[in-house]
Amino acid sequence: MDPSPAQQILDVGCGTGLNFSLLQRRIGPTGIIVGIDRSPQMLHRARRRAAAHGWDNVILIQADMTTLDPSIIGAHIRDSGGSTASEAALATYSLSLMPHWGTAWKNMTTLLRGDARICVVDMQDPIGRARWLAPLARLACALGGADITAHPWRAVEETCTDVTSASTRGGHLQIRAGRLSRPTT
Ligand SMILES: C[S@@+](CC[C@H](N)C(=O)[O-])C[C@H]1O[C@@H](n2cnc3c(N)ncnc32)[C@H](O)[C@@H]1O
Repeated sequence: MDPSPAQQILDVGCGTGLNFSLLQRRIGPTGIIVGIDRSPQMLHRARRRAAAHGWDNVILIQADMTTLDPSIIGAHIRDSGGSTASEAALATYSLSLMPHWGTAWKNMTTLLRGDARICVVDMQDPIGRARWLAPLARLACALGGADITAHPWRAVEETCTDVTSASTRGGHLQIRAGRLSRPTT
């Protein structure tokens, strides 16, 4: 994703804010993290994490990515001191939990600059020599409510330029980063 100082990053399905610490190291105190999650419990923990670290550059919003109105969320971000168009976004282990992740992707990109960087990390069946672990991976995903067949990183491959790919854990974890190339209006 390569976030740089002072950037505003959207964390889609931010959960308890596990990504925040790494992001803060790159964007610094003049950057902004916008965390969106539908779960008030997760956001409560994310808020506590931000308070414990003294991060006053974190904007947390409770919303369902598949049904939110980007113009309302954009206005909320602006009223909280951020910009309506973030410079980068990441979605780690969240899109595969959303039955209509394509709609979530569309809403996310509406909240981004036309040249924003996007990173998706999500799960699929292990491959190659790790293939025998597939039943275990499927069970873990099913228990957590994730669709292991969703492969939401396809959206990065299909709509972004400058795409980089990585995978780990026998191909179970798939990582894609790329740049939107939408004309800025
Ligand atoms: C497995 S957790 C990952 C949290 C975080 N991204 C991380 O890597 O630690 C998935 C998160 O996505 C959130 N989520 C699931 N569906 C969502 C939706 N439709 N809109 C917003 N958030 C959603 C869940 O509430 C949960 O906090």
